[in-house]
Amino acid sequence: MDDKIVYRQMKPGDEGRIYALVSSVFSEFVASEYLPEGIEEFINYIQPEDIASRAAENHFVFVAESGSEIVGVIEIRNSNHISLLFAEKRFQRRGVGKELLRKSVEVCRREVPGLERITVHSSPNAVLAYEKMGFEPSGSERTFHGIRFVPMTCRLEKGDSG
Ligand SMILES: CC(C)(COP(=O)(O)OP(=O)(O)OC[C@H]1O[C@@H](n2cnc3c(N)ncnc32)[C@H](O)[C@@H]1OP(=O)(O)O)[C@@H](O)C(=O)NCCC(=O)NCCS
Repeated sequence: MDDKIVYRQMKPGDEGRIYALVSSVFSEFVASEYLPEGIEEFINYIQPEDIASRAAENHFVFVAESGSEIVGVIEIRNSNHISLLFAEKRFQRRGVGKELLRKSVEVCRREVPGLERITVHSSPNAVLAYEKMGFEPSGSERTFHGIRFVPMTCRLEKGDSG
């Protein structure tokens, strides 16, 4: 395995590989926590054409690439909300999630000077990881369209580069 990881913005044509990564990590780590309706809702959300159309509107995406393989992805909505964050199983706990977040926060702060917080709807399995990355729960766990999540917020320090 080539261990060098490159972080870059998504390019047109990446969407199929992003779908493949997210659907396989989702099936292994997240799907068992959702209701059937939530699984369907999530799989619809990550279809390649939907990733592309959101990126053309109010979302941006960074990927982590090892060789020709996409091993991590983050999608940000409105420069203030994490709508996807996934790392390939072999690459988890190696700093990929944190670096994708750091790069994204840099972009968000450029887009929104004075940005005070980033939010996420964390799946229950990922709450500890988000806490380690500086997020705190901002409410109790809830279920919407079959998707279970804990709303979480990361307050950004003034002048913190992310
Ligand atoms: C959540 C996820 C994206 C984190 O990515 P990652 O690359 O493994 O995270 P990092 O290696 O950058 O770790 C960041 C911090 O979280 C901690 N962490 C990561 N996974 C963790 C876990 N499962 N449990 C507890 N802590 C965890 C790390 O130890 C690290 O803490 P540290 O800086 O104090 O050492 C990844 O585990 C994943 O893809 N999970 C399955 C999909 C998922 O649930 N995504 C979130 C949907 S909202």
